[in-house]
Amino acid sequence: MKINRRKFLMATAATPAMIFTSRQVIATNQHRQELPIPELYEGEYKSGKVKFRLNVEHGEVEFFKGYKTSTLGYNGNYLGPTMKMKKGDQVSIEVNNHLAEDTTVHWHGMVLPAKMDGGPHQNIVQQGKWISEFKVIQKASTLFYHSHAHGQTGQQVYRGLAGLLLIEDDESEQADLPSEYGVDDIPVVIQDRDFDQNGQFNYVGFMPERMVGKHGKTLLINGAYSPLLNAKSTRLRLRLVNASNARFYNLGFNDGRSFQVVASEGGLLEHPIALKRLEMGPGERYEILVDLSDRKSVMLKSYRGVGNTAHGPMGMMGMDNDMDVLLINAESAEKRPTTPVETLTSHPDWMSMKPADVSRQLELQMGMMGMMRGMMNRMGMSGGMMSINGDSFDIDHINFSVRKNQFEVWRIGNNSPMVHPFHIHNTQFKVLSRDGRPAKPYEQGFKDTVIVNQNETVQVLVPTGPYSDTQSPYMYHCHILEHEDGGMMGQFVVKS
Ligand code: C2O
Ligand code: CU
Ligand code: CU
Repeated sequence: MKINRRKFLMATAATPAMIFTSRQVIATNQHRQELPIPELYEGEYKSGKVKFRLNVEHGEVEFFKGYKTSTLGYNGNYLGPTMKMKKGDQVSIEVNNHLAEDTTVHWHGMVLPAKMDGGPHQNIVQQGKWISEFKVIQKASTLFYHSHAHGQTGQQVYRGLAGLLLIEDDESEQADLPSEYGVDDIPVVIQDRDFDQNGQFNYVGFMPERMVGKHGKTLLINGAYSPLLNAKSTRLRLRLVNASNARFYNLGFNDGRSFQVVASEGGLLEHPIALKRLEMGPGERYEILVDLSDRKSVMLKSYRGVGNTAHGPMGMMGMDNDMDVLLINAESAEKRPTTPVETLTSHPDWMSMKPADVSRQLELQMGMMGMMRGMMNRMGMSGGMMSINGDSFDIDHINFSVRKNQFEVWRIGNNSPMVHPFHIHNTQFKVLSRDGRPAKPYEQGFKDTVIVNQNETVQVLVPTGPYSDTQSPYMYHCHILEHEDGGMMGQFVVKS
């Protein structure tokens, strides 16, 4: 693993100027292509279990005509199939690692026993196999799965190791929402990439990219550059997934139309929230409804001014741009009534629950002095700079323990010079407040990842879940993958 990594770093060492030039050359000879929809994978029902099989493999994709990019994927070249499960299912997922390096597969957003979580402790060696079995006990929601290999998450996800995981339940199946996958219920996996002059992925090449996280100038949507969606219905549900390593998006339509947010990471909101702009950090998911009954073509765009490209010590020259995400053509869309839904679901009243009497303060930190030293000493690129409460991730050290079936208030503070999307495993929490003020209305549903702005403290109410295991920990971390790999991560166990 060590050897591979060094080779990778050397192969991708490039100057920013080179990345920029090569991208322009590649990007200009490109035609718009139909948005690919990842294949739906519902598994096979066998002896009381729903069985899935994922092969982690090498691939090759022609993102740009005439350029074959080396990639990684699950059961394919890039990304993976959309796994679909139903609440109550007992699932069994066999993962086979056909890579020449170790990997793991983490079910992001799933509440499940720690051994089945797919974090860095569930390492799958080269040519090895891992079986994850659990019961789906949570509400309908848009989850995803991705590599969580120790210290290697960033580069493995960048090369393609991510996929969607949808949970349905009786309520979601009966809800008045578009729900025909790939027809009016469309996954939109957003990733930014850089390519070199040979059309190969250009991962972290220079020091600032390790600090601010890898930002690419080219967007891939469901693994396609510059895609077009020919809408089949005038009422579309988009499952927006920020599967980028580090980039925040500020999504909206080019004609200023509003849309309705109907779900966050952990499932349906109680009521739809109308918005014109939606900010999404890495790891976050939102579902939106778009009304296309005017049959106009619209561009879903990301508007500059959010996340770490908008400010910060590095300036990120040329990185903070408006970007086209997805062109939607509604010319031949079938007209569907757009009766506004008023109530989507109701959430249990957690606010009246008595949280456990613990104080959980987590400070997200970037040691600037450590970084400067790192810049001067090119070999000292990792370790010590990214931390939580002063501790960089140590796979042999459990940071704390919680008791099962409790509600805990976690205070997440950020005095660093960057915005961090904070994620906790094995839970769908509620955001109680931002610096004492209420969370944004669309953030008041169930979430597993929350944006923590600079000089802000976010309080979340975390259900610790029904599973205990003092030997196997769960992770909490910044979902900027270079920060996670760099040590802005900790682990906790759940006691009975
Ligand atoms: Cu999506 Cu611990 O990660
Ligand atoms: Cu996770
Ligand atoms: Cu971070």
